[in-house]
Amino acid sequence: MTRRLGWILTFVLVSTELEWGGYDAVWPKDRLAQSSAELQQIVDLENTARLLAILLDSGRSVINENLPPPESLGQTLIVPPDLFERQLIEMFLSRSGTDLHDLDHAKLPARGKRLLRELIAVSKEVVVEAQPSRSRAPVDDKELIPAVFGARAAARFSNRTGVRLKQTALAPRNPANAPDSSERLALEAFADSNYPREKVISEVTVKSDSLRLMYPLYTTRHCLDCHGDPKGERDRLGYPREGLKLGQNAGAISVMIPLKP
Ligand code: HEC
Repeated sequence: MTRRLGWILTFVLVSTELEWGGYDAVWPKDRLAQSSAELQQIVDLENTARLLAILLDSGRSVINENLPPPESLGQTLIVPPDLFERQLIEMFLSRSGTDLHDLDHAKLPARGKRLLRELIAVSKEVVVEAQPSRSRAPVDDKELIPAVFGARAAARFSNRTGVRLKQTALAPRNPANAPDSSERLALEAFADSNYPREKVISEVTVKSDSLRLMYPLYTTRHCLDCHGDPKGERDRLGYPREGLKLGQNAGAISVMIPLKP
């Protein structure tokens, strides 16, 4: 929280200086009001970014819980879209306290509500398109595991909204998920076993005119089928296992949201 507020205040101060540089050192009341409005806008944006990360991760987790058991290798069993949506909304409610059925009444700015609705829509589309169908060629031959679901939903969401979502880890299986320098710093903090659970790290950079937020991910039992022990041994998709333990940090979702819509 201290670090987060530090960043927020840095932003407010920097943007204040940029706009009012060269004027007298005393801030008139209306300027103070303006910076507190900016502060509120950033707090709202951070909340939106955190909810988007939780929603993407909830979708990943629903896919994870519905994966066929490891012994049924190659079986294309995919959760039906309606069941997926129901479980997604339930999981998001239990993790965030926000009811997606009742978004109109949620304490969120209109932009946040719009973005959450868009992410639900693209998540469902990804599940619909992955259903086995004789009339349609498959999107590609990748099984809809959490990371594949997450990458497809994130790419579509980013195209439509300009808000970037990315799954990342310190030693990624897919080089496309490699962290940039600021993501790496957050991942290193999350990897410390004393780091508080689910505590996000966020920053506002004047240069990129965006708010960036990192949301830590943790393993549940099913993740370990692929990412757990024995370390180095191949999982059912042929990747070497990372040897992660239950509840351990497994990476993060990175959100980058422009300050202005
Ligand atoms: C069926 C095996 C499987 C399961 C189950 C699985 N993963 Fe993965 N995971 C993968 C594969 C394969 C990739 C790389 C996918 C790609 O090519 O983009 C991956 C990628 C990731 C990434 C992105 C960084 C990277 O390594 O490229 C994260 C983070 C991640 N998994 C965490 C998890 C978590 C947390 C769970 C449980 C909720 C989970 N995974 C469940 C196989 C699995």
